[in-house]
Amino acid sequence: MSDYSIKILPPPAWLYVFSRIIREPGKVMVIGDVDAGKTTFCLMLANFLFSKKMNIGVLDLDVGQSHIGPPTMLGLGKVSSRLNNLEEIKPIATYDVGSESPAGFAEIIVNGTEFLMAEAEKRKFEVVIIDTTGYIRTDEAVNLKLDKIRTIEPDYVILLEKENELHELKKCLEDAGVSFIRLTATAETRERDLEERAKFRRRSWSRHLVYTLRRILNKRVDKN
Ligand SMILES: Nc1ncnc2c1ncn2[C@@H]1O[C@H](COP(=O)(O)OP(=O)(O)OP(=O)(O)O)[C@@H](O)[C@H]1O
Ligand SMILES: [Mg+2]
Repeated sequence: MSDYSIKILPPPAWLYVFSRIIREPGKVMVIGDVDAGKTTFCLMLANFLFSKKMNIGVLDLDVGQSHIGPPTMLGLGKVSSRLNNLEEIKPIATYDVGSESPAGFAEIIVNGTEFLMAEAEKRKFEVVIIDTTGYIRTDEAVNLKLDKIRTIEPDYVILLEKENELHELKKCLEDAGVSFIRLTATAETRERDLEERAKFRRRSWSRHLVYTLRRILNKRVDKN
């Protein structure tokens, strides 16, 4: 479905962080600009922890380029196999935001985050990996990230940066005494244009419509 190949190897700095998470499991929130490699980081971490037989949840807070659940929804799922992409994770809980863009939807996104984190806690995951949108450049965007951090209380805030585009957020985190791990986004990341992003959303919608139709039809067959 997507191009997140498991053949790509994590850079050494990422592996170092993965090993630390194995030693001290917890909630890992990944933040960065559009196309910084956030989802790839989450996928690699999920596979790495799964290979160590850990119980892992993934919370997808990206309403645009959604991987768990359809676009417009936040989604939570459990890693139950080695993954080629995050779309292979079946949603165990979703929260409808009603927009493919986070702009103007901060309150409902924070409410959804709180709801899904509570669902994650019930399932007693050793590690919850939290993927986020690349919405970071405006004051509203930075405030939304800070609100999500307050809601989630992550043990690890991972900042994936190409240059210094997260400077505003880093300053706010330093002022608030929230520690973070800054990693350089790899040079290999590929930028997707608006058409590619729209295509990704269309594919995601059709996948979920087919899935829902199958479930409805299977229920009917069971009844007959
Ligand atoms: N370490 C890497 N090595 C090679 N390619 C990579 C690496 N990290 C990311 N990529 C590629 O770069 C592209 C963007 O990565 P990814 O989708 O993970 O970024 P993102 O930050 O999640 O983007 P978005 O803001 O759209 O959610 C993808 O095609 C991915 O396969
Ligand atoms: Mg992503």
